[in-house]
Amino acid sequence: MSFLSSRETILQLARHNATPFYWYDMDLLEQTIAAAVKASKRYNYHVHYALKANSNLPILRKFVEAGLGADCVSGNEILRALEAGFKPNQIAFAGVGKSDEEINIGLENEIFAFNCESIEEIEVIQELAHKYGKKAAIALRINPHVNAHTHHYITTGLEENKFGIDRWQLEEVLEVVSKSPNIVLKGLHFHIGSQITDLDAFKNLCIRVNELQDWFIERKVLFEYINVGGGLGIDYYAPDEHPMVNFDQFFGLFNEFLQLQPHQELHFELGRSLIGSVGSLITKVLYVKKGKKTQFAILDAGMTELIRPALYQAYHKIENLSKGEWESNVFYDVVGPICESSDCFGKKIQLPLTERGDIMAIRCTGAYGEVMANNYNLRPYAKAFYG
Ligand code: LLP
Repeated sequence: MSFLSSRETILQLARHNATPFYWYDMDLLEQTIAAAVKASKRYNYHVHYALKANSNLPILRKFVEAGLGADCVSGNEILRALEAGFKPNQIAFAGVGKSDEEINIGLENEIFAFNCESIEEIEVIQELAHKYGKKAAIALRINPHVNAHTHHYITTGLEENKFGIDRWQLEEVLEVVSKSPNIVLKGLHFHIGSQITDLDAFKNLCIRVNELQDWFIERKVLFEYINVGGGLGIDYYAPDEHPMVNFDQFFGLFNEFLQLQPHQELHFELGRSLIGSVGSLITKVLYVKKGKKTQFAILDAGMTELIRPALYQAYHKIENLSKGEWESNVFYDVVGPICESSDCFGKKIQLPLTERGDIMAIRCTGAYGEVMANNYNLRPYAKAFYG
């Protein structure tokens, strides 16, 4: 079912339930997962779903059914992944600041790997693994110094970013690992940023990974797998024309440019590209307020339900679902009710004549929408509905 054909269902839901709420198109989710699985299977690549994008159980269960692994960034995400049914040996645990409690959750459950971001972290994992008589599989997250050409808040692979281990530290890392009997070095991990639409960034990552592998091979260090993280961007501007990314092109690029060693696996951690277009934030117009130069459409959803526009100046398409055809074209500043000027979903947005009570959809909120909600101003958390 396309978003357009869900319109009546969404309007019905909005009639009978409190707005705002999140709406998830489960058919589109299934189609997206199927496309990603098909394209990755072609090269025997392994895909972990990045829970940080959206960790709702009904959504996670779809990824479990399709046999994907999980990528977690907190102890609670590991517990949620296990609750949803992900196998512990398919769970990767990333993050620049893992607490002792969180590391212990990973150790107890014997997860696939800790993606380690510093020498200090490796030392702590060794200490805790030794204490509990466990072995910890790790991957080294290396900062590849590749520019992802995305918003600076979601760029992670540059030297100025806090993420990963820098190349000049690698000799020391190998020394620490060799003195850590409870650490098993299995992989190399990378992640250069998010909402990447310039695929050349991934090509540059492949080239950097090849160089780094050569460096390790010279030192007789071989890895079972390479993990290139996530970051594939979606089309926020035309979600109906492009509800899915081109997974064939994406995985094909790695097949073309990344040189894997014999029997070496390639892993991915995709979040946004698997779930971003699946969700919409459904909200009601509270007031249309006339300004001197502009009109404000004031919604009952705000930056508490979707913080991306306020935080990253992100674009999300806005539609008036109550007005089927475009009866007239007027421009609105579409804003939320929160006491912050940044609580704005878009300026000079062309919409049909919009009135109090109209139901609006803010599109592509499946990733980093509901998970980033907060209850600033003591606002209640919005519910989710699945179609
Ligand atoms: N792996 C690692 C190590 C990550 O840090 C991330 C995302 C992913 C995988 C998944 O990346 P994706 O495929 O979803 O791009 N809140 C921001 C996005 C933050 C991304 C954080 N890391 C936003 O709303 O744009």
